[in-house]
Amino acid sequence: MGSLNGQVAFITGAARGQGRSHAVRLAAEGADIIGVDICADISSTGYPMGSAEELDETVALVEAEGGKMLASIADVRDYPALKAVLDAGVEHFGRLDIVCVNAGIATMAFRELTDDEDLQLWTDVLDVNLVGAFHTAKAAIGHLIAGNRGGSIVFTSSTAGLIGFGGMQGGGLGYAASKHGIVGLMRTLANALAPHSIRVNSVHPTGVNTMMAVNPAMTEFLENYPGGGPHLQNPLPVQLLEPEDISAAIAYLVSDAGKYVTGVTLPVDAGFCNKL
Ligand SMILES: NC(=O)c1ccc[n+]([C@@H]2O[C@H](COP(=O)([O-])OP(=O)(O)OC[C@H]3O[C@@H](n4cnc5c(N)ncnc54)[C@H](O)[C@@H]3O)[C@@H](O)[C@H]2O)c1
Repeated sequence: MGSLNGQVAFITGAARGQGRSHAVRLAAEGADIIGVDICADISSTGYPMGSAEELDETVALVEAEGGKMLASIADVRDYPALKAVLDAGVEHFGRLDIVCVNAGIATMAFRELTDDEDLQLWTDVLDVNLVGAFHTAKAAIGHLIAGNRGGSIVFTSSTAGLIGFGGMQGGGLGYAASKHGIVGLMRTLANALAPHSIRVNSVHPTGVNTMMAVNPAMTEFLENYPGGGPHLQNPLPVQLLEPEDISAAIAYLVSDAGKYVTGVTLPVDAGFCNKL
């Protein structure tokens, strides 16, 4: 018996990286998965998004853990599409218990941008990371309340959601603003949904070994960031966490072990936010 036997989790950004890892971990704990990913590139990121093939691979990995997964392509910016996918998933599995608001993009750029490009990076990152997070929660809350069994929502923010980090350009500022915005969303929903025994928390990872952090655009940004390399240096002797390290924190937050934990910003950051 896993800690999540019989439960159903909705995960955005499930094709690869942390979203895939959360799907596999929650399936290993006994949950079935409703997963979505955009599976199409967003030009302002400078690195590829997950693909349909990668989303299929996540399904195979979930099945290897003995779970079931309904995977669909949807953009979290498109509320009607996202809601339709989730509604179909809840219809299919018959319930919803857990929501991992994970899909996100980074739009750091160090090169000089035109004003138009700068504004576009700000708009894109806010749309995906913050508006998309709101869409995901909004699509799910009605199902969680209707289930009348409580539930758990975990937003994936960032260390950039707790401290100022990201650079002077629209994309980097937007990343930090979007990840701080998620905290406001999380805290307010935690209060509003507590009477329904629905818990709402956020996790704040330091650098994680995924395409978002390990790509030429991000490397160039970090190398040119004022002060340079120290921004990837965590007090604990680890440079990049693995997606499974974040999944472990999420598995705790959504399980019965975390039943009285709500409204919490949980850094999974090897001490990054605490350093001088
Ligand atoms: N990697 C890091 O260093 C790091 C650190 C802190 C926080 N985070 C956050 O963790 C989350 C997961 O990122 P990751 O590290 O797994 O990166 P990733 O780029 O490997 O995975 C993100 C996934 O989200 C999907 N996605 C992006 N935009 C989408 C949209 N509009 N609609 C649906 N799906 C979309 C992508 O296709 C991709 O599969 C993000 O919210 C990110 O901001 C990452």
